Amino acid sequence: MPAPVRILTGITPSGTPHLGNYAGAIRPAVAASHQSGTESFYFLADYHALIKVQDPARVQRSTLEIAATWLACGLDPDRVWFYRQSDVPEIPELTWFLTCAAGKGLLNRAHAYKAAVDVNTAAGEDADAGINAGLYMYPVLMAADILAFKAHRVPVGRDQVQHIEMARDFAARFNHIYGEHLVLPEAVIEEQVATLPGLDGRKMSKSYDNTIPLFAPAAQLKKLIAGILTDSRTPGEPKDPDSAHLFTLYRAFASEAQAAGMHAALREGLAWGEAKQALFELLDGHLAPMRERYELLIAKPAEIEATLQAGATKARAVATPLLRELRVAVGLRPLSLVTAPAPKAKAAKAAQPSFKQYRESDGRFYFKLVQADGRVLLQSAGQASPKETGALIARLKAEAAELDHETDTGLQLAGTVVGRLAQGVELAEVVQALVALAEEG
Ligand code: TRP
Repeated sequence: MPAPVRILTGITPSGTPHLGNYAGAIRPAVAASHQSGTESFYFLADYHALIKVQDPARVQRSTLEIAATWLACGLDPDRVWFYRQSDVPEIPELTWFLTCAAGKGLLNRAHAYKAAVDVNTAAGEDADAGINAGLYMYPVLMAADILAFKAHRVPVGRDQVQHIEMARDFAARFNHIYGEHLVLPEAVIEEQVATLPGLDGRKMSKSYDNTIPLFAPAAQLKKLIAGILTDSRTPGEPKDPDSAHLFTLYRAFASEAQAAGMHAALREGLAWGEAKQALFELLDGHLAPMRERYELLIAKPAEIEATLQAGATKARAVATPLLRELRVAVGLRPLSLVTAPAPKAKAAKAAQPSFKQYRESDGRFYFKLVQADGRVLLQSAGQASPKETGALIARLKAEAAELDHETDTGLQLAGTVVGRLAQGVELAEVVQALVALAEEG
C-alpha cells in the first residue's frame, strides 16, 4: 500500500463562521477527510489569531465556536488529526528554527505585510506604522504549522499560495544547511469550490458585512434571506436565474434536480418572495441537524476541550520525534554527546561506524553497530523480519539522543529494549556513532 498522502490546513479562529466558510472550506474539507489513502490534519490556528485579534475573550470564544462548528459539520476527530495550534509547543520551536533559516528579504515581499505597508504609505505614514512583527513573521509560523507534520498537500485559497511557496523556500533552505529533514509541501487550490455571494451580491465576507451566520437560529435565517438583494421583477414576470444571487445560493445546497426545478420556476415567473421561502426551507433543512449538534456541543466546552487535548496528543506524536531530530540536527544537543565537527566529518567519511545485519539460527534478525576500527559497540535484540531491523536502525539514528542504558535490562528506546552495549562500551560512544551516521544521511 502506498504511503498515505498527508493533507493539512489551518483555520484561523477570528470570527463567527458563515455560510460562505461552510460551502467554501468546511464542507469540502470534511468530505475530503473521508477519502482513503489520506491523512487529514485540521487545526485551529490560534497563534495566528493573535496577529489580528487582541481581545482575549474573543480569541477564546471564537476558538470554541470554530471547534464546535467543525465537529457539528461532521469532522470525525477519531479519523483525522484535529487540534489547536497552541497545544503543540513544537510549532513555535520550529518557527524559531525556520526564522533563522528564512531570508528577511523574502518576508519583506509577503502580500499581507506589503498590503499593510501600502496602506501606510498611501496615508503618508511611516511604512511600518502600527504593524506588529507578528504580521511580518506570519509566513514563518504558517510554514512551521505545515512542516512540523511533514504535510504533502495544503488546500488553501488563492491568497495563501504565496505562503505555501515560502514554506517550501524555508524548508529547502533548512534542508540545504542541515540535511534532508523537512518535506516540501504543495499548495492545492480548490478551483471549483463554491464562492457564495452575500446578502448584497458581493462575495460573502465578514469584511463586507453581508454574511449569513452558519448557525443563525431559524427565525434569523429567514429574516436574513428575506433581505437578499433581487431585481424588481414582479411575481409572474420571467426572471433570469443565472444572474440572481438567490439562485447561486440555492444551487450551492440543492440537488441537481432541485436546482433545475428552481431554475425553470424562476424563468416561468416564480415570485422572489416564494423563491426566498424555498431557499429558506432548503437551507434550514440542510443546516438544522448541524445547528442542533452545534448547540449541544457549544453548551459543553469541557468536552470540546477534551477532544482538542486528545487531538493535541495525537498531533504531538507526529511532531515531537521530528523536533527531537531537528534539535540534534541544528546542534541543540546534550553536552554529553561528543560529536565530530561537521566540516571535517566529510573528510573522515571512510572511517564511519556501520551496521552489520545478519540472521541467527533462531530464525530472528539481528544487527551489530560496529565502530570504524572494527570494535563492536552495540548488539541488537532479535527482530522478526529484516524490515523490522531496518525500521529499528532508522529509529536509533533519528532518536539517538533518547537512548537509555540500564545495567540489567540493556539499551532502551522509549521503554522498549533494543539491545545491549558491547563489553566495555559507554552509552555516549554509541550515541555519538549514531549521530554521525544520521548526519551522513
Ligand atoms: N493563514 C491561513 C488563513 O488565513 C490559516 C492557516 C494558518 C493555515 N496556518 C496554516 C492554512 C497552515 C494552511 C496551512 O487562511
